[in-house]
Amino acid sequence: MLKVGLIGINGFGKIHVANVLKQAAKGKVKCVAFADVKVDKEDKDYQELIALGARHYTDYNEMLDNHRDLDFVTMATPIHLHTPMAVNALNKGFNVFLEKPPAVTIQDIDEIIQAAERSGKFCEVDFQNTSGKAFKTLIEKLKAGVLGDIEKVVGVGIWKRTQDYYERTPWAGKLIHNGSYVLDGSMNNPLAHLLNNCLIAAGRGDTNAAMPQTVQAELYKGHEIEGEDTTCVRINTVNDVEVLFYTTLCHTGNDTPYIKVYGSKGQAYWDYNNILEIKFNDGDKESYQFEEEDLFEKMLVNFVKVLEDKKAKLNSSISSCRSFVLASNGAFESCGKTIKIPQDYLIIKPEGDTVATYIKDIEKIIEKAAEEGKMFSEMSIEWAVPTQPFSMEDYRSFELFKDKF
Ligand SMILES: NC(=O)c1ccc[n+]([C@@H]2O[C@H](COP(=O)([O-])OP(=O)(O)OC[C@H]3O[C@@H](n4cnc5c(N)ncnc54)[C@H](O)[C@@H]3O)[C@@H](O)[C@H]2O)c1
Repeated sequence: MLKVGLIGINGFGKIHVANVLKQAAKGKVKCVAFADVKVDKEDKDYQELIALGARHYTDYNEMLDNHRDLDFVTMATPIHLHTPMAVNALNKGFNVFLEKPPAVTIQDIDEIIQAAERSGKFCEVDFQNTSGKAFKTLIEKLKAGVLGDIEKVVGVGIWKRTQDYYERTPWAGKLIHNGSYVLDGSMNNPLAHLLNNCLIAAGRGDTNAAMPQTVQAELYKGHEIEGEDTTCVRINTVNDVEVLFYTTLCHTGNDTPYIKVYGSKGQAYWDYNNILEIKFNDGDKESYQFEEEDLFEKMLVNFVKVLEDKKAKLNSSISSCRSFVLASNGAFESCGKTIKIPQDYLIIKPEGDTVATYIKDIEKIIEKAAEEGKMFSEMSIEWAVPTQPFSMEDYRSFELFKDKF
């Protein structure tokens, strides 16, 4: 049975705890230790882990040093800690199951990739939307060429986050926190999955085949934050696919994020409800509706399978996430800084104990932009500010906002 150590057990770490406890109950893993700087000893998760015989550490390094025989560690820690923790754990010889976004900058993800290669250990990124049946079917279809040449991939994520979301942890909504890049926002955090899946689709399963060549982005904020909460991004990839990506966290509710893939032989539609629909130019249709799946569990099961059988394939290896980080870095390079949407275009109102921010008509603006393949600034939106494409050729280091350190 594989021995696991958890790093980060609160916040999203609770999903990791639940996942590990489930696999432990099935006899697949044994949780030997866990590390978190802050624990509540009255908390059910803490008590269950202790009851299983797991030892708590406040210093994750001490945990690694005291448990050299751990088969892997999971990391659900603040974004800016991913690189130092993952590199350290890999260098010490541990396999790592890492939360998304794997790293904030291209130099950071390259450091993790190199550490994984040097150590010969596995690093899987918890981009759980890579594991669903509908998405896997889409990729198999694209690999088989059913849509012909892929010309365009469009991702749309229209969600709502209220003020309490930004108050839950000190790095939320920040570009930099404690002297490290965070670039927290819709693109790097809640809707990161959607961008990563767009790039996987653009590369027919191989994100490195769809490496961003140029990135043009408009990064807006309705909330009083440093980062963005609303974006439009146009990416031209090395394999000649146009990837268009639209997000907002300033809607009145959460719509289902979706991706449309346009090919020379037809179009495919995939969404977070595990749905895939293909319409061919000749009028034929294929439709798949899979049952709801526990994507988090699927990711952990996939990781365990790869550790047990080295020939199995990771759903989301660290190296497959490099194009995602390039796209995110390129978006900031193109926009320079985030653009505040003027008050006149916002509706800000109390909601329970918190505050909700809505950008007027944002859902209509995004749907129209996605349909027409336009940036917001190409649509006569009064608050929109045009930007230039940024070339990602030989891009090795993200250095923006140094004055904020
Ligand atoms: N896969 C998903 O769908 C999904 C959803 C939400 C969040 N996340 C990711 O989960 C990660 C954590 O996000 P969060 O909002 O829970 O963050 P958070 O700030 O609440 O931190 C998570 C946990 O890490 C602990 N922690 C902080 N510093 C630590 C340290 N030095 N050593 C050990 N533990 C430490 C915190 O005490 C907390 O328990 C982020 O990468 C986020 O993007 C993923």
